Amino acid sequence: MTKQKVFITRRWTESVESIARDLYDVTLNETDRPLTADEFKSVLQNYDAVCPTVCDSFPAAVLNVENKRCKILANFGVGYNHIDIDAAKVNKLIVTNTPGVLTQSTADIAMTLLLMTARRGAEGDRLVRAKKWEGWCPTSMLGSNVTGATLGLIGFGRIGQAMARKAHHGFDMNIMYFNPSDVDEYVIQDLNAKRCNSLEELLSQADFVSLHCPAGAKTKHLINAETVKLMKSTAHLINTARGDVVDSEALIDALKNKQIAGAGLDVYENEPAIHDGFLALENVTLLPHLGSATLETRTAMGEKVLANLAAYFAGETLPDQIC
Ligand code: DGY
Repeated sequence: MTKQKVFITRRWTESVESIARDLYDVTLNETDRPLTADEFKSVLQNYDAVCPTVCDSFPAAVLNVENKRCKILANFGVGYNHIDIDAAKVNKLIVTNTPGVLTQSTADIAMTLLLMTARRGAEGDRLVRAKKWEGWCPTSMLGSNVTGATLGLIGFGRIGQAMARKAHHGFDMNIMYFNPSDVDEYVIQDLNAKRCNSLEELLSQADFVSLHCPAGAKTKHLINAETVKLMKSTAHLINTARGDVVDSEALIDALKNKQIAGAGLDVYENEPAIHDGFLALENVTLLPHLGSATLETRTAMGEKVLANLAAYFAGETLPDQIC
């Protein structure tokens, strides 16, 4: 039987690449470099399925290309703000994602950033490497306590809740959240979590604010020059969601002017470019979008993509269909 033609836009972990090759007639971007819009148009015209990932941009201008053979974009990643979903619908393209399997590793990175920014971990590492450390003294490099502090989560879905569990049960943190929809009562009780009725309420009370909302028109620059002002001057901002949720310029100003104490970022507007303003600051910890970057998680994400493809080609219900 002829195998379906599948295009994979970036390298996957070895085991899932190998399963994909066994199942399909796979073309893999062996160079692992980001592909161009014209290359994406061409793969849409020549393959039955395309498996993009979170750094591949599929705007309407790409999705509207004529003579498409592709019927499904099986995305490697839970976020899908890089795909114009309205344009995908117009073009009758199915889009799937990989929720669930990266919850814990992403929450781990959020917690890592929280600890690093609170305890000035990256700054301390730079000091030691630069051979500028002059030894222990009672007032050097003082950070903020994590244990017992208040964590405010904006967005309280899978990843936000996983972060809250680590923070509450591991570090005895008080949990508050701001979320558009209702949250299961047992989750609230387990975490003794307080629901905030407004963003203002959360921002003004939390010692650490962690973003876990999806990117989109409603959340673009949710943290901006006005909202960042509502945070305590001792507070820290953590972003493992998407860069667009934060206005970089406003955050840089707030960090520079010590309007807030620090920030820990894993995601950026216009990745992989980083605003130069961040690079000059000591009170921001910068990670290169490591949220799901463990061998186990990336393999599980590949398995999810393959499960979606298998269901599609078998004409079955797709496990993770966005549209
Ligand atoms: C995702 O899947 O959306 C994550 O950001 C990748 O780490």
